[in-house]
Amino acid sequence: MSKNTPKTEEDNGSDPDPTKIKPYTWPSLAKPMKLPHPQKRSVRPLFSILLLIVFAATVSFRAVLRRADVNLSLSLSAWSPQRKTHVLSFNSTLLKYASVDISEPRAKQEIEQLLEGNFASQGRYRTFATWRRFDTHLDLRARSSNSIQALLRSPRFYRYWLQFRTVLHDWARKKTSFDPEIMSDLIRSVKLPLTNNSKRYSSCAVVGNSGILLKSEFGKLIDSHEFVVRLNNARTTGFERNVGSKTSVSFVNSNILHFCARREGCFCHPYGVDVPIVMYICQPVHFVDYTVCNSTHKAALIVTDPRFDALCGRIVKYYSLKRFAEETGKSLDDWGVARDGANFHYSSGMQAVMLALGVCDKVSVFGFGKSGLAKHHYHTNQKAELGLHDYEAEYAFYQDVIERPWKIPFISSKFKFPPMVQIVVFML
Ligand SMILES: *[C@@H]1O[C@H](CO)[C@@H](O)[C@H](O)[C@H]1NC(C)=O
Ligand SMILES: *[C@@H]1O[C@H](CO)[C@@H](O)[C@H](O)[C@H]1NC(C)=O
Ligand SMILES: *[C@@H]1O[C@H](CO)[C@@H](O)[C@H](O)[C@H]1NC(C)=O
Repeated sequence: MSKNTPKTEEDNGSDPDPTKIKPYTWPSLAKPMKLPHPQKRSVRPLFSILLLIVFAATVSFRAVLRRADVNLSLSLSAWSPQRKTHVLSFNSTLLKYASVDISEPRAKQEIEQLLEGNFASQGRYRTFATWRRFDTHLDLRARSSNSIQALLRSPRFYRYWLQFRTVLHDWARKKTSFDPEIMSDLIRSVKLPLTNNSKRYSSCAVVGNSGILLKSEFGKLIDSHEFVVRLNNARTTGFERNVGSKTSVSFVNSNILHFCARREGCFCHPYGVDVPIVMYICQPVHFVDYTVCNSTHKAALIVTDPRFDALCGRIVKYYSLKRFAEETGKSLDDWGVARDGANFHYSSGMQAVMLALGVCDKVSVFGFGKSGLAKHHYHTNQKAELGLHDYEAEYAFYQDVIERPWKIPFISSKFKFPPMVQIVVFML
């Protein structure tokens, strides 16, 4: 963990002035932003530049404002709409379609090949001669060969190879089953290895990478959460006032590490070797990179349970199918073609939110959503969205987490969603 908040004159220990803020409700993140004009005369100048839009459709939102420009902390009173008061009824056709993983047969075949040491179909991993990281112990013959046998003669590689096979095997075994109770297992599988205890985090911030973060200065608020999750190596340096500087966990997809098997300088320790990483596996071959990265990472490097991945996949697909049917009026069979079904995937942000919901008492979500007034990412100049995600479907899911968690499919009735708020602030 690292906390490195710049000291300011506000840090004088005095009690904050409690000020009530009425939450604005905003039905859909996907709609273009309409910003109400701040009341220039009736408020202090500092307040007048700060416009708070809080996506908590529910009541009891309490905010404590101390010097509105830099320091704002939120607390939610206990609230949690629970599904027990609602009769569950899900559309069984949608459930059925959402449960089919089109990419499953391909993944199964890949895993079998990899366990046998056959990397022939693995694109850039195919030629071991390009794995320069292992060159030192290899003779020239090995370097010019594509055979894994040659590589296995390198003691250094052999160690990785055994670990690779073990983790891939364990992962593949779990991948074959679906478990609706998996949300309740996150405390054991993630929280426990991170902190050596099973107590839920009291407050969590999931920091998305949307450019809307640059329109506010929520760095201190973000850092005030016990557990701060950042996504896909987004850097904080230079953006501390907007995004904070504390990182409790770096959440990434395995594509981020894809150079680790091949060269020393990969993106393995974005926030240093002491910040734990939680990662989901996009392709089974990425376990090679995982194994290599893990060997130099001091803190935990946790791969998400494939049953948790499957749950996230089903949920997002359910919302995507539903939206597709409602907006196009077409048959659900056409969804696969329209959305590139075999490559369709939930975003890293969605799974990070799911993770936080599983290990936290309350969850605040920052930097999710888009606006014509803001960059796509706060830290890059990337223009467009990636086609393999359905962000609108994910926004609909977040909205249900906040307002109607009983409407979320595939979740065991034993799991209770903690309260979540989605926070967007615009400084005009
Ligand atoms: C984890 O907690 C147990 C029991 O509280 C303790 O015995 C053990 O030393 C702890 N391990 C670490 C690595 O802190
Ligand atoms: C990851 O690294 C840690 C510490 O070096 C080690 O204990 C653990 O066995 C490794 N895990 C795998 C799956 O290689
Ligand atoms: C289930 O959803 C699909 C797609 O939205 C719709 O066409 C179908 O009529 C629904 N079935 C029921 C029983 O509501």
